[in-house]
Amino acid sequence: MIPLPNNSELFPDGESVARAAADRLVALCAESKQERIAVCLSGGSTPKRLYALLAGPDYVGSLPWDRLHWFFGDDRFVPWTDPLSNVHMARTAFGDAPIPEDHWHCIPADGTLEEAATAYAATLRDVYGADRLDPARPLFDLVLLGLGEDGHTASLFPGKPGLDEREAWVAPVPESGLDPFVPRITLTFPALASSRRLLVLVTGAGKREPLTRIANGEDLPARRISSVGDLTWLLDRAAADFG
Ligand code: 6PG
Repeated sequence: MIPLPNNSELFPDGESVARAAADRLVALCAESKQERIAVCLSGGSTPKRLYALLAGPDYVGSLPWDRLHWFFGDDRFVPWTDPLSNVHMARTAFGDAPIPEDHWHCIPADGTLEEAATAYAATLRDVYGADRLDPARPLFDLVLLGLGEDGHTASLFPGKPGLDEREAWVAPVPESGLDPFVPRITLTFPALASSRRLLVLVTGAGKREPLTRIANGEDLPARRISSVGDLTWLLDRAAADFG
């Protein structure tokens, strides 16, 4: 087994990773005294099972859907109806979950890439109520992230724009570093770090290589993931266990 990132928890399979993440959201909501609970969703395929679980009979009755608001850590710059869109993926996976329409805070997919990034940053600032992030008052209650096979997270790719951004909360990414090769929009590391709790969900043998490269100290984007709150990597055995 490779040396795991700090704050890792190992699970038998993808299903148990998804259930562990769902349990943490339920617990976070139960502890929260806030009227609005802001969750920043990750895209790709890994979180589909988590989203379906939350909407399913085991969890749907345990969540305060009227207080939960759903944001996106990144998206492909395609129409929300496009199968490549993370909005399309999330709405499909959440299915009939009782999410009020105005609780979806999706990254715009119209205008220019730069306009959409600027508009989403304005949405986040409006929700947050200030222009500067205060570590004592995180923007998100929960941030979910994944790990790409090239070591990216959100749409922060090796060698691409946004990696070193320390001021802007949202960045346009004209060229994706991995399939699907469409322009992207991503939250930056400071915005993702503004989280009460951050979970990185990593499952499947395809993630062994990036995990190893991170463990070996390579400065891949995902190695820069941080949080002003709690950060936990939820890994399944296929991704983390070489034995
Ligand atoms: C995206 C995601 C991206 C994802 C990783 C892992 O838009 O693709 O936000 O960062 O989390 O690429 O993707 P999988 O879960 O599909 O392996």
